[in-house]
Amino acid sequence: MDMSATVVIGTQWGDEGKGKIVDYLAERADVVVRYQGGNNAGHTVVVGDQEFKLHLLPSGILYNGKTCVIGNGVVVDPKVMLEEIKSMQAKGIDTSSLKLSNRAHLIMPYHRLLDEVEETSRGDFKIGTTKRGIGPCYMDKNARSGIRVCDLLEPEEFKEKLARNLEAKNHLLKAVYNTDGFDFAEVLKEYQEYAEQLRPYVADTSAILHESIKAGQKVLFEGAQATLLDLDHGTFPYVTSSHPIAGGACIGAGVGPSKISKVVGVVKAYTTRVGEGPFPTELHDATGDLIREEGHEYGTTTGRPRRCGWLDACIIRYAGYVSGIDYMAITRLDILDKLPMVKVCVAYKYNGKIINEFPASLNVLSRVEPVYEELPGWQQPTSHIRSYEDLPLNARRYVERLSEVSGIAIGLVSVGPGREQTMILA
Ligand code: GTP
Repeated sequence: MDMSATVVIGTQWGDEGKGKIVDYLAERADVVVRYQGGNNAGHTVVVGDQEFKLHLLPSGILYNGKTCVIGNGVVVDPKVMLEEIKSMQAKGIDTSSLKLSNRAHLIMPYHRLLDEVEETSRGDFKIGTTKRGIGPCYMDKNARSGIRVCDLLEPEEFKEKLARNLEAKNHLLKAVYNTDGFDFAEVLKEYQEYAEQLRPYVADTSAILHESIKAGQKVLFEGAQATLLDLDHGTFPYVTSSHPIAGGACIGAGVGPSKISKVVGVVKAYTTRVGEGPFPTELHDATGDLIREEGHEYGTTTGRPRRCGWLDACIIRYAGYVSGIDYMAITRLDILDKLPMVKVCVAYKYNGKIINEFPASLNVLSRVEPVYEELPGWQQPTSHIRSYEDLPLNARRYVERLSEVSGIAIGLVSVGPGREQTMILA
């Protein structure tokens, strides 16, 4: 796999296992970059018998000596970032190669509170935010009132921007949500302390990446969330506030599209969705329950059961062209080991006709009828298998059929959380 500048993205609604794939590819990279989202992402990486939960730091942090970049497109909660650095250091991880973009926007205490009160006020129309202030922080960035990391390092600039923002937010909180706001001196003191702790990490990360690519280093861009959660291309409004598709890497890291050499799309061998919104291949039966139990498909923070369904090749095809995916990394194939048969949705029917595009309208998406192909299951364990040829024939047929229908090559197949449970095909 040519790795000179590779973007890894999720193709479905998230929780595909990007953490494991990024970790696997990070081993061969020199630089690992986060380019969007914030601490609403949650990768789980298993190294030997240790489990690491990463929210903000790039997965490359788990390998010593890799430059790890938090790009300008990420929104950064300094408190969370510093806590994560400390927790990694406590586990013996070296964080000295971490770089934080001076152009990244800061999550402030009022962003977290606004996230909560706004979501509560939506009543039955909740978006399903993680209430960590991500959405309100991106709103301020777009409104051009946000505060950036470079401002934090300039005391007078920060004071002035904090005063202006706090006045507006405290007014909004009181007038609209009848909620008390924040004390200027307290927030200032808290963030002044963060400034000194973060200072050693702050850099012009776009310039660093430019030099790395020029020097022939291998750069890995690590997407968080997934295609159907993209602000423009996802199932709006049940989306995130940033751009998890591959193009987001260019904006969120400050790298030109001509420098991206490969795009890898992570595909879970079935589909899950958290929260509300249409889900054409959703299963409301014993098979759905079996997938949920075998795959422990419960929210990591909320413990809420995830909605489970058959693999939907219409989604993968769509993800394929909005991100220009070169290879699929298929994860969690082992979760389907016990099923006597498996289904792939190969097309949607709407009003009796096959439709080729993934619908923009959620009304249409909620009414499409999946056209399934049924394939025989393999009904034998796969987690111990280390080479693609050794996979049961029916398991290979399943992933190869997905590749045919979606028009995307298979690059990697994963049959367990461990680094060694990964087979490379391309
Ligand atoms: P988001 O960024 O929140 O979408 O998460 P993610 O896509 O990084 O998923 P995450 O890594 O949090 O969760 C996936 C879970 O599946 C983790 O516990 C992984 O260790 C595990 N996992 C990854 N690949 C496989 C696999 O092939 N088989 C099994 N059984 N588990 C896997």
